[in-house]
Amino acid sequence: MKRILLTVVLLTILTTGCGESNKTKTDDQLEKARAMQNENDILCRQAAEKLTAIFGGELKGELIKALGEGGAVKAIDVCRVKAPKISQIFSINGVKIKRVAERYRNLDNRATVEQLQVLAQFADRATAPEYIGQWTRTDSIETYHFYKPIYTEPFCLNCHGGLQTLAPGVIDAVRRNYPNDKATGFQAGELRGMFIVEIDWPEGRGYAEEIVDFQM
Ligand code: HEC
Repeated sequence: MKRILLTVVLLTILTTGCGESNKTKTDDQLEKARAMQNENDILCRQAAEKLTAIFGGELKGELIKALGEGGAVKAIDVCRVKAPKISQIFSINGVKIKRVAERYRNLDNRATVEQLQVLAQFADRATAPEYIGQWTRTDSIETYHFYKPIYTEPFCLNCHGGLQTLAPGVIDAVRRNYPNDKATGFQAGELRGMFIVEIDWPEGRGYAEEIVDFQM
């Protein structure tokens, strides 16, 4: 929205004083700018949605496999190693993906003050938007930001639940690996954190298109 406004303001400034005869052209330009804006917005949103689905799916698949094979303690190792790696693998070519939380396990995933404000909008699942997408612009760079809430499922309670629901051995394994862990005591349905995808524009465009075309 901000970006559309900016475009409108810029175009208005550029065309001010051109006289009535240019009115149609201006309208045309505005129309085109708006259409392009919509296209970019849709592409970025679709890429971000897809990326979060891939990330979430990969991780969950790994976790379920590890839980079956070696129980929760082994699965924690998998999450500890794989989660940052998956973020890293997909964060290239002007696109970034990560997970953040207020009550985090890994300090690297601690939400910033601005991110906490976004998380607050997702807190009540009944009224929360499905996602938030917005554009920002600094001097030289324009960025699409996508936020998608992550809610706690019963399965997650193996490692993020209260004492009654944590799988055996989890507490010790978590304390060993994450001395500052804040990510237990959750209940099913509760907000656990959110995905953030950032796409720099136009640098991230090619990769965003690839992601949208990728067959899962
Ligand atoms: C086998 C244990 C285990 C299970 C099951 C598990 N997690 Fe985690 N979770 C972890 C570990 C370990 C980390 C820290 C990963 C890291 O170091 O980046 C983590 C981190 C996270 C984070 C990133 C923020 C933070 O706190 O560091 C989110 C969000 C998250 N988990 C959500 C979930 C959700 C939702 C589920 C269920 C679908 C789930 N987890 C199931 C162990 C688990």
